[in-house]
Amino acid sequence: MTVTIVGAQLGDEGKGGVVDLLGEPADVVARYQGGDNAGHTVVHGGEEYKLSLVPSGAIRDKVGILGNGCVVNPRTLFEELDTLRERGLDPDVRVAERAHAILPYHRRLDGIEEEVKSDDDLEAGTTGRGIGPTYEDKAGRRGIRVGDLLDPAVLRDRLEYVVPQKRALVEDVFGVEAGEAFDVEALHEEYSDYGRRLREEGMTVDAGSFLADRIAAGDDVLLEGAQGTSLDIDHGIYPYVTSSNPTAGGACVGTGLGPTTVGQGEIIGVVKAYLSRVGTGPLPTELRGDDERERLAEYIREEGGEYGTVTGRPRRVGWLDMPMLRHAARASDFTGLAVNHVDVLAGLDEVNVAHAYDRDGERLTTMPTTTEAWGECDPIYRTFEGWPEIDWAAAAREGFDALPENARAYLTYVSEELDVPLTAVGVGPGRAESIVLDHPFE
Ligand code: GDP
Ligand code: IMO
Ligand code: MG
Repeated sequence: MTVTIVGAQLGDEGKGGVVDLLGEPADVVARYQGGDNAGHTVVHGGEEYKLSLVPSGAIRDKVGILGNGCVVNPRTLFEELDTLRERGLDPDVRVAERAHAILPYHRRLDGIEEEVKSDDDLEAGTTGRGIGPTYEDKAGRRGIRVGDLLDPAVLRDRLEYVVPQKRALVEDVFGVEAGEAFDVEALHEEYSDYGRRLREEGMTVDAGSFLADRIAAGDDVLLEGAQGTSLDIDHGIYPYVTSSNPTAGGACVGTGLGPTTVGQGEIIGVVKAYLSRVGTGPLPTELRGDDERERLAEYIREEGGEYGTVTGRPRRVGWLDMPMLRHAARASDFTGLAVNHVDVLAGLDEVNVAHAYDRDGERLTTMPTTTEAWGECDPIYRTFEGWPEIDWAAAAREGFDALPENARAYLTYVSEELDVPLTAVGVGPGRAESIVLDHPFE
């Protein structure tokens, strides 16, 4: 069977930890979208691993797959694999031949376009990893796929077609100097080398048939989403989004498994007990604007270590947003919820949740379709009494009933409002600070 892990908010909900927690019985862990814009944290044996491309399960000897829906920067991939090997691990990672490759010119274009957009406040605050430009080339049918890297002649043909266009775009439209990132010879040398390494290490696969065969043979497969529902290019806060589909539909097209296979499994929405945001755009529940709110944001940021895994940027912080979660639960048909960071809110006198929105006197219980309208929404808050700091690992050993009463009331409210049962609760970064209420693989 499959279990799909989907971010319910704006990324960084703790998906890496949930994959690690629930993925124990899985044989294979597959990423289905995104690239090295992701930063997933796994804490294992007292060590912290920050993974951008290597699927979180590969830390624990699962086969890791980067599905066809991913965009893969081979430079980052090999660097990450080499670093993990230096730390004594031996991850088995295979890459879909249909996945698209990120080239140096995609990264350059990401930076240039963000700069240009910033004049009109339209920049998304991207991670600068070239994600958008690579998906643009995929949709524009001029991308270079991992399978193309394996054949130097095909790679040369593709580069000779696309690179002069990119060079002209940068020089003639944006008026900046192109440089090495736009040099066919240099690109061919570097990327055919990656192709050779991928081939020699037997790292490429047809992801769809590989996964289908493993499932037919009785293996359990975990599908690991990156980013989150409100960053989804279709269902998120466009244009302040990423360029792929983190929602559960993305798990089908991004792996080659059919929707019936994915839908027969479980789909777990990962929720942070408040909101964090690394990019730009509106955020109705954001804690800012007056001293009291700024102080709360600062408290949560420090308690929760809310600094970007990939970029190190301080994350914006807000209260939990139920209309956002109702939208996410519907878009992906969550069958379970993993709510993290319950410990981070401990010690506050009260905890607020946007139960609904008020927009020009109209009451909304889910997100409006345009981001401009979303920015005009005023949260209608529900206030919960705070809960104390406790020994979270000890509580986790005892189970859900050992959590402070007010924290249980908060979690029960979220689950009942969404009509989705609680699968797991996170009260700290490690497995030992997690409570599994209902294991999706069992
Ligand atoms: P991801 O991108 O969704 O995998 O999340 P990140 O790894 O970017 O950010 C989540 C951060 O919170 C990481 O540093 C995790 O180790 C940490 N974390 C995960 N769950 C919890 C939790 O329940 N409590 C606390 N305090 N930290 C957590
Ligand atoms: P994980 O998987 C949080 C945000 C960026 C920016 C927008 C587009 O760790 O949850 P991109 O580089 O993808 O073109 O940036 O999306 N973003 C993330 N925010 N967590 C992530 O990944 C993110 N990946 C992208 O900040 O607003
Ligand atoms: Mg992250």
